[in-house]
Amino acid sequence: MEGAFMNITVSVGKPEQCACSLLLIGCYEEGLSETSRIIDGSLDGLLQKLYERGELSGKLNKTRLIYTLGKIPAECVLVVGLGNKEELTPEKIRQAGGSAIQAARAAGMTKITSAFLHLADQLDGLMLLLEGMLLANYSFSKYQKNGEQQKLVEEVHLLLPLKFATETAERNIADTRVICESTLYARDLVAQPANVATPPYLAEEALKLADLFGMTCRVLEREDLEELGMNALLAVAKGSQQPPKFIILEHLPQPGTPPIVLVGKGVTFDSGGISLKPREGMEKMKNDMAGAAAVLGALRATAALKLPVNVVGLIPAVENLPGGNAYKPGDVITSHAGLTIEIVNTDAEGRLILCDALHYAKKYKPAAVIDVATLTGACVVALGTSATGMMGNDAALVASIGRAATASGERVWELPLWEEYGELMKSDIADLKNAGGPNAGTISAAWFLQQFVGGVPWVHLDIAGTAWEEKGRPYLPKGATGVGVRLLLEHLRAGRQK
Ligand code: BES
Ligand code: MN
Ligand code: ZN
Repeated sequence: MEGAFMNITVSVGKPEQCACSLLLIGCYEEGLSETSRIIDGSLDGLLQKLYERGELSGKLNKTRLIYTLGKIPAECVLVVGLGNKEELTPEKIRQAGGSAIQAARAAGMTKITSAFLHLADQLDGLMLLLEGMLLANYSFSKYQKNGEQQKLVEEVHLLLPLKFATETAERNIADTRVICESTLYARDLVAQPANVATPPYLAEEALKLADLFGMTCRVLEREDLEELGMNALLAVAKGSQQPPKFIILEHLPQPGTPPIVLVGKGVTFDSGGISLKPREGMEKMKNDMAGAAAVLGALRATAALKLPVNVVGLIPAVENLPGGNAYKPGDVITSHAGLTIEIVNTDAEGRLILCDALHYAKKYKPAAVIDVATLTGACVVALGTSATGMMGNDAALVASIGRAATASGERVWELPLWEEYGELMKSDIADLKNAGGPNAGTISAAWFLQQFVGGVPWVHLDIAGTAWEEKGRPYLPKGATGVGVRLLLEHLRAGRQK
């Protein structure tokens, strides 16, 4: 990521004796948390009074900063609302962590000590809080001289109950840290402007990751793609001066075991091509490589955690521009798989680069293929920005991704992929056309992709709505979200090569 990652330290101790600048405690709608009650004892009942006056409501994500004026060694306490005690969920704990960091950042505090001792009884709870904190502590200010308003917290200290084994905590912290770092890494890739994050840039990043984390990386160049007949991918690249790259990143610790292949859409800028997009908001189309970023982030984490799972990342990377040599509506191209495609809309370019990558994936005889793509505006219409669209051909794989989504907090929602939807993609001149009409745009795109996966268990994740956060949420600052990294890691860690 840009800038240094937060420093994480851990110790055991009593919060009321902890000398620190900012001590984080919790409050429920029903009243102070256990730890807060202990602190309250040393603050002459100030917290309880504030609660009774309604100034500490305990409402989820509400925060309140209180100076302790020397009554305890901590200079300030930050009380974060956890909502209704009975209804506390993993996602709410992540959010509370995110809100705490936002409050600390707003107050210009650079160090925060978490006294969530009641959560630490189950280490999982504390890790969720940490996850929210790490994910909230992000800003992309590489191109701003004055990054002042986006100050980051530099250190988070986790206070654990006495007699707690810090080693166990440290192992968990290391895992959470790697996954969050990799999410912020993906955010950075997406946040980079398209004049920087070009196809060659993505290839360089993949090579760097391979070097740093012990993976193998190969990059297929235009000539290689021509030889392989990846004409759908090449067609999209024709309108741009940027050379296409096909990135192959491999983490194969288990010889002889079929890998899980992750495919990420890497359109570094999507102007729509000859079927040019409207000008409003076109700058956002630098995020059309968020699928590629998710795959790179997921492999980064997989390799750093040394997961005993074979994982291959495939990233077709191109820029979609309307240059003089651009592909055109009406063109017919022969894909890598041999199926012919009539181009009816050059803005439906994602499925073209993905279909060649999906066909290529078969050569690994994969246990599963998962593609991640900012594929359709229709997905944003259908699900908004709160869920990734999911479609697939294998009930067990779909269910497994569904479980990973619930566990990671990166929601997915399944849409049907019934055979009838194929009607939308019939062409009069070729085997398929690349765009259906206005109906069921997300599904028809997935149906198109399915023609290229053969019998391999496959799931398609449409992240068009979830890759970018417009307003900012507790642990998703405005901008790139890095969606997909935590979901994929949860799926890979859940183990079984499905
Ligand atoms: N990259 C876009 C989809 C997109 C839209 C991503 C909004 C993020 C936010 C994709 O390449 C595209 O243009 N899709 C077309 C397909 C249509 C022409 C069949 C779309 O959704 O309009
Ligand atoms: Mn497009
Ligand atoms: Zn696109």
